Amino acid sequence: MTRHLRSLLDLDADETARLLDLADAVKAEPAKYAKGLDGKSVAMIFAKQSTRTRISFEVGIHQLGGQALALSSSGGTGMQMGRGETVHDTAKVLSRFVHAIVIRTYGQAQVEGLAEHGSVPVINALTDLYHPCQGLADLQTIRERLGTTKGKKLVYLGAGNNVAHSLMLAGPRAGMDVVVGCPDSLRPNQAVLEKARADATKWGTRVAVETDVDAAVKGADVVYTDTWVSMGEEEEAKRLIEILRPFSVTPELMAKTGKDDSIFMHCLPAHRGDEVVDAVMDGKWSVVFDQAENRLHAQKALLLLLMGAESF
Ligand code: CP
Ligand code: NVA
Repeated sequence: MTRHLRSLLDLDADETARLLDLADAVKAEPAKYAKGLDGKSVAMIFAKQSTRTRISFEVGIHQLGGQALALSSSGGTGMQMGRGETVHDTAKVLSRFVHAIVIRTYGQAQVEGLAEHGSVPVINALTDLYHPCQGLADLQTIRERLGTTKGKKLVYLGAGNNVAHSLMLAGPRAGMDVVVGCPDSLRPNQAVLEKARADATKWGTRVAVETDVDAAVKGADVVYTDTWVSMGEEEEAKRLIEILRPFSVTPELMAKTGKDDSIFMHCLPAHRGDEVVDAVMDGKWSVVFDQAENRLHAQKALLLLLMGAESF
C-alpha cells in the first residue's frame, strides 16, 4: 500500500516514534543513508514561497542519493496545473516519472487528490490546513532539548492555523499535552480540533483551546508561536495584527510559564516585534535554529520510510 503524509493523521503513535528515532539516526550518521534514494526522483511543487521546506527537501534528497525536481505550480517555468491541468491528470502523469511528490499549496484537497489519483507517496509540504513536516521536526527538537516529549505541555500562541493544527495532531502522537492560546475569533478549525481530541483520548493526552494568554502559558514546557499573517492572508494583515497583539511572546510572558527550563519555538519565518520579540528569539529559551535544522533530518527519515528504503 502506498503511504502518504497528507497530514499527521497518516501516522499513528508507534510510527511517529519510529520516524523520530530514524530522524535521530540520520542526523547522527548521515553517511549511512547516502544511498537510500539511489536512482529515485522526487517532484517538489511549490505554489507558495518557502525557504526552509524547499531547501531542506532539496538538500535532503541530494544527501540520500536521489534527484529533487523543484517545480513551481504556475508561471512561465511552472507546471501546467497553473493553466488548469487537473490534479487527477497531474497525479497520473507524475506517477509515471517520479517516485514521490512533495507539494506546498493552498487547498488540502490538492494534496488529497494527488494521493488519491497517483500511485506514489505524496507529502504535504504545507497547505492552508496543515504543516505536518514542521510538526515532525518540532517533535524531534523537543525530544532533543527536553529529553522526552512524554508528559510535556506545549502551548501554541497565535492564530488557530495550519501550524497550530499540526501541533494539535503531533502532541497526542508523542504523549504531549497541547494548548492553543488564541483570540476567540481565531480558534482552530473545529473538525481538526475534534480529530485531535479523539487522538488525545486514545493516547492519554489533552488538547485544549484557551483564550486567556496568561492561563494558557502556565506550566508550559514549550512556548510556540507562528506568524500572525499566514501566506494568502495578506489582505487581512491589519486586522490580524491588532487582534493578536496580546499574544506576543516576550520575556515577561516566558516568565509566566512558572518554569526555568521552558523552551521557545517558532516554525519561522519570524516577524520580530510582532509574534515574538528579539529578547526571546535570541534569548536563552530559543531553540528556533535547531528546529529549522531538524526539518532536514526529519524529512530525510520521512522520505526513507515512505519511499520504502526503511520500514515502519
Ligand atoms: N517553516 C517553514 O515551513 O518555513 P518555509 O516557509 O521557509 O518553508
Ligand atoms: N502559518 C504560516 C506558516 C509558514 C511556515 C503560513 O502558512 O504562512
